[in-house]
Amino acid sequence: MALKVGFVSLGCPKNLVDAEIMLGFIKHSGYDLTNLEQEADVLVINTCSFIDEAKEESIKTILELAQYKADGKCRSLLVTGCLAQRYPQELLQDIPEINGLVGTGFIPGIAEVIDRTLNGEIVVMVGKPGYLHRADNPRIQATPAYTAYLKIAEGCDNCCSYCIIPEIRGPYRSRKIEDILDEAAGFADHGVKELILTAQDTTCYGIDLYSRLALDELLKRLEDIEGSVWIRILYTYPTYITDELIRALAGGKKVCRYLDIPLQHAADTVLERMNRGGSRGEYVSLIEKLRSAIPGITLRTSFIVGFPGETEEEFQELLAFMSLVKFDRVGVFIYSCEEGTAAAKMEGQVPEDIKVERRDRAMELQQKLSLEINLRKIGETVTVLVEGISSEGAGLYEGRSESDAPDIDGKVFFKSTKDLDQGDFVKVLIENASWYDLNGVQVE
Ligand code: F3S
Repeated sequence: MALKVGFVSLGCPKNLVDAEIMLGFIKHSGYDLTNLEQEADVLVINTCSFIDEAKEESIKTILELAQYKADGKCRSLLVTGCLAQRYPQELLQDIPEINGLVGTGFIPGIAEVIDRTLNGEIVVMVGKPGYLHRADNPRIQATPAYTAYLKIAEGCDNCCSYCIIPEIRGPYRSRKIEDILDEAAGFADHGVKELILTAQDTTCYGIDLYSRLALDELLKRLEDIEGSVWIRILYTYPTYITDELIRALAGGKKVCRYLDIPLQHAADTVLERMNRGGSRGEYVSLIEKLRSAIPGITLRTSFIVGFPGETEEEFQELLAFMSLVKFDRVGVFIYSCEEGTAAAKMEGQVPEDIKVERRDRAMELQQKLSLEINLRKIGETVTVLVEGISSEGAGLYEGRSESDAPDIDGKVFFKSTKDLDQGDFVKVLIENASWYDLNGVQVE
């Protein structure tokens, strides 16, 4: 009987794509996969190490699963992904239950590492982060059947002073356009209704391969693929949103009127210390341009508060910017001092209690703004991708509109008298709203 492998993936959608490819290679090598940790012969934890909170969650998960070496069948415990890439020696020293490590450059090596650890070796496959997957790699989709992440590039060349990701993921590398189209067509053939484009920075797509920003061209060619109905873009970088890209978004039939643009701050002095290469004025103009070219566009952003040297005045500038622009969705994160980054060496590290207080104030403001925006949707009819029966109430379904990316945005809860399947598209009349979610009734 084939040995069983249990797998947990943490972190961002880019890491989830790596997990899906590792699952593909594991299955391809003759192992079975299991969701039951106690019956797994091998346990793999695909980790994140972006900020302190993510590192803590990764370590907590490794320690929890390490218990199965004593209490379950587990004979091999592997750590993969960003924490393994960043801290291989420390992990092996501090957690002796670990049998093997696989860094971000060795995704296809996962099955070999499993084989060798089961033969008693301690294996460390960590080196340069140079891997880029291809459409013909085996992949097992871990997301619901109707939605899939399409990783269009790997790595990052933007040197934001707080970020360790370029070190963990290497320089920017775009996948060939034809290879992405092949993978997208495969998803569409298998009934995927929503393709979500990811990369550390999707707007830089093509610069290394074609010497030009080519996300607009990629979008146009993805639109021609038969099938899949929504194309959603995550992780855009404000300074690379070109007029061509805005035209492709505005003219697209399948591209969601939704853009995720992490701005990180709005005070010019902080943006400069962050090495973001943009300014408050440029951001205001960009947002005006997007809203006038694409009426109804949903804009999501994220901000970091408590960056080294951030004064109350700079923080107030951020709040004023949020009130002016009124983003539909905002994530506010507390600055995490990451060793190996330029910001970690900066003077004026902000005390933890002030960071938390600023995060809470910014979130409180955003909740008010999001509520105002959502209340204005009452009476509108929106298209919803059905995700299934909701546990929030009897006779209730839930789904997402084009304004909602999975896991980070809200949902649309709605009543229906029909038998609906996951992946159906329906029309919902909005009857009520909170700052996060919408409620309504199916009308078509
Ligand atoms: Fe975390 Fe790695 Fe993603 S550090 S945020 S899992 S690229």
